[in-house]
Amino acid sequence: MAANIIDGKAFAATVREKVAGHVARLKEEHGITPGLAVVLVGEDPASQVYVRSKGKQTVEVGMNSYEHKLDAATSEADLLAVVDQLNNDPNVHGILVQLPLPGHLNEDLIINSIAPEKDVDGFHISNVGLLGTGQKSMVPCTPLGCLMMLRDYHGSLSGMDAVVIGRSNIVGKPMAQLLLGDSCTVTIAHSRTKDLPEVVRRADIVVAAVGRPEMVPGDWIKEGATVIDVGINRIERDGKNKLVGDVDFASCAERAGAITPVPGGVGPMTIACLLANTVTACCRANGLAEPEGLTA
Ligand code: GUN
Repeated sequence: MAANIIDGKAFAATVREKVAGHVARLKEEHGITPGLAVVLVGEDPASQVYVRSKGKQTVEVGMNSYEHKLDAATSEADLLAVVDQLNNDPNVHGILVQLPLPGHLNEDLIINSIAPEKDVDGFHISNVGLLGTGQKSMVPCTPLGCLMMLRDYHGSLSGMDAVVIGRSNIVGKPMAQLLLGDSCTVTIAHSRTKDLPEVVRRADIVVAAVGRPEMVPGDWIKEGATVIDVGINRIERDGKNKLVGDVDFASCAERAGAITPVPGGVGPMTIACLLANTVTACCRANGLAEPEGLTA
């Protein structure tokens, strides 16, 4: 079987279009412009690329983008003061502190200082708890993007066997919560899982989020399963730099019913969902109905 390719790049463009429509309506009907603040501490090159891309796309959908670039040596107290100022700024509806932070800063402390209703990353402990108990929350962007693509492809996910490979707080754990919320039977597999190939072979849905290049071969995939590849790994092959996922695309595509490519799969959905979360946060902050189809 040749798998259907789930085109995350095209899907992300439709999400951004929807977001832009809601932003236009918020401006015209309510005089409100949603605003997203991104805080970058230090000069990590990958983080600089992400932050630039976030700022550009924020402006493209008609929202205000506020960038706070702080020196790598910024103290915890100074960073907390910046977050506090953003928490209290009515023009800022979403706050994202780019991770990783320099080693002298306590990430948990900083993330948990963000007002939960402005935590568009969904990393605040309150949002983690709300998601885990099935209550309205801000949902982490990458898992939200994966869920949107799965719902779009399958309609209902009810009763499906889902295996999430990876137990990170950013992807694996919230992804499992979202799939459980959509009535999947969920297994979280990780580096200590016994007989990982057999566990993965049971899955109707496989979400790979481990950060190890091409670690899932095709013969782990059940015929017709849906494979969502969250990995973005830079490798060198035949003397060239290449981006590959956590699954071996060629062999998995032979057995899967549907698969996301790398690049062009999950990656573009992450920022699109960040924009969606910002619009959702803005609507909630103003007591307005939140956009349909942009939340979990
Ligand atoms: N660094 C890499 N990905 C992310 C993300 O989704 N959010 C934040 N805050 N930092 C990141």
